[in-house]
Amino acid sequence: PAPGWSLAADVVVVGSGVAGLTAALRCSAAGLKTVVVTKARLDDGSTRWAQGGIAAALGEGDTPEQHLDDTLVAGAGLCDEAAVRTLVTEGPDAVHRLIETGAHFDTGPGGAIELTREGGHHRRRIAHAGGDATGAEISRALVEAVRARSIPTVENALVLDLLTDAEGRTAGVSLHVMGEGQHDGVGAVHAPAVVLATGGMGQVFSATTNPSVSTGDGVALALRAGAEVSDLEFVQFHPTVLFLGADAEGQQPLVSEAVRGEGAHLVDADGVRFMVGQHELAELAPRDIVAKGITRRMQEKGAEHMYLDARHFGAEMWENRFPTILAACRTHGIDPVTEPIPVAPAAHYASGGVRTDPHGRTTVPGLYACGEVACTGVHGANRLASNSLLEGLVYAERIAADIAEQHAEKALPGLYAAVPVPVPAPAPDHTTPAHPLLPPEARFAIQRVMTDGAGVLRSADSLAEAAARLARIHAEAAGALAEDGKTAEPGVDTWETTNLLCVARVLVAAAQRREETRGCHWREDRPDRDDEAWRRHIVVRLNADRT
Ligand code: SIN
Repeated sequence: PAPGWSLAADVVVVGSGVAGLTAALRCSAAGLKTVVVTKARLDDGSTRWAQGGIAAALGEGDTPEQHLDDTLVAGAGLCDEAAVRTLVTEGPDAVHRLIETGAHFDTGPGGAIELTREGGHHRRRIAHAGGDATGAEISRALVEAVRARSIPTVENALVLDLLTDAEGRTAGVSLHVMGEGQHDGVGAVHAPAVVLATGGMGQVFSATTNPSVSTGDGVALALRAGAEVSDLEFVQFHPTVLFLGADAEGQQPLVSEAVRGEGAHLVDADGVRFMVGQHELAELAPRDIVAKGITRRMQEKGAEHMYLDARHFGAEMWENRFPTILAACRTHGIDPVTEPIPVAPAAHYASGGVRTDPHGRTTVPGLYACGEVACTGVHGANRLASNSLLEGLVYAERIAADIAEQHAEKALPGLYAAVPVPVPAPAPDHTTPAHPLLPPEARFAIQRVMTDGAGVLRSADSLAEAAARLARIHAEAAGALAEDGKTAEPGVDTWETTNLLCVARVLVAAAQRREETRGCHWREDRPDRDDEAWRRHIVVRLNADRT
């Protein structure tokens, strides 16, 4: 499609979760002309679904060093220690700035922030809001702040591709916008700095805690733009997602780790606490260990799910501390006050993503990434619970500082008057068989393939089967295009599905390559961690792959 409209800015931020809106606010405060574009409404991303909270060394006796230790243990030997150190030392101040921006956290009688525990944390370190509605409160505060600063936003804008100038430097993004008046249809925002904050890719699996917008668009864009992507094999499966049936598809209700942090037990159908004895922290072991413990027990018992028992909380605690989860359970006919909650693992978080340096810069000049789409190195092979909101905050602020500095030094071209470059046809609209657009129905086939072959449990055979089935989905679309020029109609569904296939294929290739079990990558055929061969990262560039 021909581009119909364009805007010019110093910075375009793509995405409107905690990372995107923080980057936008800080860039705008630094005097940069900032535009936010987002795929749905401003508050529609994953941030608003976050329950447990935001981890930071805020409590008495806690220190960034202890937070660092827990993060490194969860990350199973693959965290970038310097990146983690930045996260945990800058984290507490970043949370205080979030509070200054308008977010209200739950406080105790003396006014101190109330802290809870989650898996992998050796102490209470998680600030929360509205009991179990932390993300919703953060999103509310940031959206209000962005509106108060009158930062221009374009909603319902699916990002298509990165625009680059003749030197290969970032020059903006092309977008497909639906129903936004003057910005309707395919257009572009020209800017020498692009901040990708598009969130995750949970929709690549059948059952996920992620909203429907989490289709890996940022990683797919970065891959097409030639940026490096790292650690995609490390998909985190949240251990306790409300079980709504083996065939349940799409976004599933989360039952926060904070419920276990406050003392809930994981039990099998006979009421046996199976995590006790498996790890010193039992139900509060790092997330990968609990997800594995649940999956193993399900296999041993031939069960489709396990149970989370928190009846001992009583009605008052459920109502005050976990109102969101209580309501979600009751909507589905389960009353946690009187019965155990059926739970099973589901896809939750991409620990990998677009590789960045400590300032959030990707390997493409002018392209930055923060939040779930990024791989800053803080999560390693398995993210520590509630580190993601913190990472979004801290690295978004670092990106804004870097862009502002480069702006001051005039190191970014065209900051004062962005130079429009021609907008090419969006790459996912390729008319060559190598890059066919996929029909929207293919989304369900991709999700099924990924859940069957690249889910909690993986093996060489399951991954080979997944790779072959994904290749067939690609070949069918390519064949139709080659034979009679038929391609799916360009549009949000087809672009999303095309992005899902792109990230699914790279994820499976990385998972095939990593022949060991580590963090949330669980290879049944390679049950052990192999530090000698695999204490390294799998970095992918489209058409070039190195470890
Ligand atoms: C949860 O509340 O269990 C989710 C926290 C997280 O994913 O960090």
